[in-house]
Amino acid sequence: MLGAKVLARSKLNLFLEVGPLREDGYHQIRSVMQALELADELYLRRTDGSSGKIRIRCSDRRLPVDEENFVWRAVEVFDKRTGALEGGGIEIFINKRIPIGAGLAGGSADAAATLVALAHIYELDLDAQELLNMASLVGSDVPFCLVGGTAMVTGRGEKVEALEPLPPYYVVLATTGIESSTPEVYRRFDSLDPGELPDPDNISQRLDRLMEGIRFQELDLICANLHNSLEAAALDAARVNKYKVLAREAGAAGALMTGSGPTVFALASSLDSAVNIARNLEDSAPITIITSFAGKGAEITV
Ligand code: C5P
Repeated sequence: MLGAKVLARSKLNLFLEVGPLREDGYHQIRSVMQALELADELYLRRTDGSSGKIRIRCSDRRLPVDEENFVWRAVEVFDKRTGALEGGGIEIFINKRIPIGAGLAGGSADAAATLVALAHIYELDLDAQELLNMASLVGSDVPFCLVGGTAMVTGRGEKVEALEPLPPYYVVLATTGIESSTPEVYRRFDSLDPGELPDPDNISQRLDRLMEGIRFQELDLICANLHNSLEAAALDAARVNKYKVLAREAGAAGALMTGSGPTVFALASSLDSAVNIARNLEDSAPITIITSFAGKGAEITV
């Protein structure tokens, strides 16, 4: 295959419980992740390698196009594991649509999409576990971004267990346009006074009820039990709270910060409600997006 076009779907966290810092510098997490239709598009083509092994271009000039980009790391891991590039090269163009550094796993989604596209282009029949192993070498959210849909994610993010898919509920995303540093938010979380943290038993009960809401597809039960441990460590807590208040005021069934923020998502059962929520947020949030839950992750489209 000479090339491929692939969709890199973003994600949000319906639930994110952060545990203690581990010896490897990561935190143990328990998270329910949900893929979104909001996606970057990646165009990949093989080259003869004369202008380098990896060449990345991006529609958004703010994004690094070197080793720092997760896409670069994904190609490196793939080539190391399979030897597929064999002195040739790959050129990748990213149409960036997912807000950057926003808690929506945009970089991880691009990496997952790159792995899927490379397996397709080089016609390698890799099993799902092999791709998941490569994904976890690139970054903590990459394994989920491969699989997508609705899933329980544990470990540092590498253990992904698919759950019953949810209907395509509407989602309104409100974000500041300012990138949030994930390591910094985790560091702030570690320095919180234990008294500021919610009771772990209470969080576990919320997770049980959330899982029930997912099983029975009850949006109200889901919304009543959303949780994100990192909200207490958000870099811009004032704006996060403001967006949550505005979303609820406009009729959102539930609202929460996703990942390490600063994006707030609001869930709505109808398009009408989603448009009302977006309208109430647009004067305050520099970026407001309407999207919906997706039942898939990274997907080859051409
Ligand atoms: O794996 P990834 O590169 O996406 O993680 C970025 C940073 O987020 C890590 O360096 C770490 O500081 C923090 N992190 C963590 N625990 C996790 C996932 C990420 O502490 N489970």
